Amino acid sequence: MPVVAVIGTQWGDEGKGKIVDFLSEGADLVARYQGGTNAGHTILADGKLFILHLIPSGILWPGKSCVIGNGVVIDLPELLKEIENLEQRGIEVNKRLLISKRAPLVMPYHKEIEKGSEQSKKALKVGTTGRGIGPAYADKIARDGILMADLLDEALFREKLDQILAEKNFLLREYYHLEGCDPEVVFTDYLAYREKIEPYLVDTTQVMKEAILQGKKILIEGAQGTMLDIDHGTYPFVTSSNTTIGGACAGLGIPPSKIDRVVGVAKAYTTRVGEGPLPTELTGAMGEELRERGGEYGATTGRARRCGWFDTVVVRHAAWLNGLNDLAVTKLDILDHSKTLYICTGYEYRGKIFHEMPCEYEVLANCKPVYIEMDGWLKKTEGITSYQDLPEKAREYLMKISELVEVELALISTGQDRAHTIVLKEL
Ligand code: IMO
Ligand code: MG
Repeated sequence: MPVVAVIGTQWGDEGKGKIVDFLSEGADLVARYQGGTNAGHTILADGKLFILHLIPSGILWPGKSCVIGNGVVIDLPELLKEIENLEQRGIEVNKRLLISKRAPLVMPYHKEIEKGSEQSKKALKVGTTGRGIGPAYADKIARDGILMADLLDEALFREKLDQILAEKNFLLREYYHLEGCDPEVVFTDYLAYREKIEPYLVDTTQVMKEAILQGKKILIEGAQGTMLDIDHGTYPFVTSSNTTIGGACAGLGIPPSKIDRVVGVAKAYTTRVGEGPLPTELTGAMGEELRERGGEYGATTGRARRCGWFDTVVVRHAAWLNGLNDLAVTKLDILDHSKTLYICTGYEYRGKIFHEMPCEYEVLANCKPVYIEMDGWLKKTEGITSYQDLPEKAREYLMKISELVEVELALISTGQDRAHTIVLKEL
């Protein structure tokens, strides 16, 4: 497996952390390419629970290198806390974590602007994680971003900060009626953070190039999911980066021809947190049951996730956009108690059936899912590690999903623990 990417196929929270952690054992280097602290990757490693927001999940395996690429937006005080927290729990981070000098910073004013923006939007409120992600990416694109490397040049950093804050403070104070940020305080705070982070800063494009040319085994860890992609998701209810495979090339500086396999991660049902359309959403008792059994509460914000049936229109769309070679299905065991299961195969809107993802928001928000009905297995699958040991109905459910999304199954997760994994194909 020279270079393998792991990507979310739904609306995030598919269990990417668990799958990346599982595959990390066979990797030399694990790299993140987009997103920021909006991600919350939950991993149960040797009985200990970890929630990672910025640092790649590979950090939990001794000796693996971890890269945070130029496409990630970095909240520096939060990153420092994450490093400290891991070290306190006995995970060595120093010398293993490599951070791009070109990664833009999420600054305190980004979080303030997001607060103001979300408060002022009514029906169009996105329901963000409040981590400043959108405003940080907006500034990067507007060429007003402060990059990690800018911190190393004090005069440049000060000049950028003063110029940017003059505008941001006007917006914050005059338009949003918020407090604004004192440039002096931000400057001093960030110089102190710089002291701590400097040893980790490198040119990650070169790190990736060397690793690939040396034939190292590389795992690329996606954050969020395909339906949250800024270009291909349920816009405007999306995150502000390209979560799909193209983002990995841009966010790490690697050519597409060097990515050997793309593994899509899909939960055995669907969840979404925040606003926006979710065609298979279950608002009644079944939705509640999935949420409780699956512990469907956000790892970053603690918000209740909206739950629904598996949607093959969504995952098939993700299969194309990411060129998926393999599918990893997670949380199968959460369906153990359901007598009947439904799989969405299309959307009905004004008498027309859509089998491909409609690009109009109006259709997606108002369509009715078309379902096929499947028998549940009503047996415990939690902890099963061999495909043959799964109940027949569970295998039928999985095979139906694989057939409809047209991607072969490679991994099935039957529980949070590393060991609770069925391998159908060696990656
Ligand atoms: P992981 O990596 C699920 C959602 C937010 C909101 C929208 C925009 O754990 O799968 P943002 O803060 O990114 O501007 O919010 O995207 N969102 C996620 N949902 N999992 C995530 O990450 C998410 N990151 C952002 O809830 O709807
Ligand atoms: Mg998450």
